[in-house]
Amino acid sequence: MRMRSRALLVLLCSLLAGAFNAEPSPDPTYKDCHPGDKAALLAVKAALGNAYHFASWTPDNPCCDCGAIPASLGTIPNLSGINLSRNRLTGAIPSMFLSKSADQVYLWLSHNNLTGPVPAGFAAVNFAHLDLSRNDLTGDASGLFGRGKELQYIDLSRNAFDFDLSGVVLPEQLYFVDVSHNAIHGSIPAQVANLSNLQFFNVSYNRLCGPIPTGGNTARFDLYNFQHNKCLCGAQNNATYFYVDQVD
Ligand SMILES: *[C@@H]1O[C@H](CO)[C@@H](O)[C@H](O)[C@H]1NC(C)=O
Ligand SMILES: *[C@@H]1O[C@H](CO)[C@@H](O)[C@H](O)[C@H]1NC(C)=O
Ligand SMILES: *[C@@H]1O[C@H](CO)[C@@H](O)[C@H](O)[C@H]1NC(C)=O
Ligand SMILES: *[C@@H]1O[C@H](CO)[C@@H](O)[C@H](O)[C@H]1NC(C)=O
Ligand SMILES: *[C@@H]1O[C@H](CO)[C@@H](O)[C@H](O)[C@H]1NC(C)=O
Ligand SMILES: *[C@@H]1O[C@H](CO)[C@@H](O)[C@H](O)[C@H]1NC(C)=O
Repeated sequence: MRMRSRALLVLLCSLLAGAFNAEPSPDPTYKDCHPGDKAALLAVKAALGNAYHFASWTPDNPCCDCGAIPASLGTIPNLSGINLSRNRLTGAIPSMFLSKSADQVYLWLSHNNLTGPVPAGFAAVNFAHLDLSRNDLTGDASGLFGRGKELQYIDLSRNAFDFDLSGVVLPEQLYFVDVSHNAIHGSIPAQVANLSNLQFFNVSYNRLCGPIPTGGNTARFDLYNFQHNKCLCGAQNNATYFYVDQVD
């Protein structure tokens, strides 16, 4: 875990079984925690003055019922990464708790019960990885995209986002985009075909309309990535147009 200019803090409110467990922990008490993560968590806890929200967390009990995301996270200087996935978090995402000066920001908030819109200030954060999937978030998330951004991975799936995708510029380095199961309308930007790193692109279960772009990497995306929209259509060859699993 890199802890220099970016303070990559991973909050272990629930078990961390994934990417950060590359090295075995020397301490059997923390068998589920990477030692660096434990240190980071203790730093967060201290920075929050051992706040009530985290009082239930102890090294022996990596689970807690966190309630809302505490706005006091914003007092941690240069916070550029945090994983709060799967914590039964409720309420809105606080307006600004991440560094605006960090060059790459990582945020994982999936599998919670967060509500309300994405904070407007997020448009100015240099996200590299952003996972907001499986919450109850609403409104316009188009500000997360845009020309020249660092964004590589974005998962907005299974929320209630509602915005026009037509005018959105997808950052060049994107390799993963999942916006399935929302209420996104408009059309798929033709520019999708120009994203050379794109490996995953799922816009299914929205209200999109219009042609599915062709060319570039788009050939690798099967129809299940486009199913259940308002009126998306594709061209299998120059003669045959078909509509993809149209709803409404
Ligand atoms: C974030 O935390 C969740 C829950 O502990 C875990 O399942 C997930 O793998 C973590 N994500 C990353 C990128 O470490
Ligand atoms: C926060 O980042 C700024 C700009 O990169 C740097 O000057 C400052 O020392 C950092 N502060 C801390 C506490 O790391
Ligand atoms: C969170 O959402 C899940 C699935 O929608 C639901 O079953 C659960 O009751 C919700 N929990 C809270 C605390 O709202
Ligand atoms: C795709 O890239 C080509 C070559 O760089 C460019 O001419 C074209 O305008 C781009 N298309 C879109 C929709 O961005
Ligand atoms: C895209 O999302 C839909 C809905 O969740 C799912 O059925 C489909 O399998 C996904 N496609 C891929 C390639 O994962
Ligand atoms: C579609 O038409 C273009 C130009 O008219 C041609 O280059 C291309 O090979 C055709 N594609 C198919 C699948 O027939």
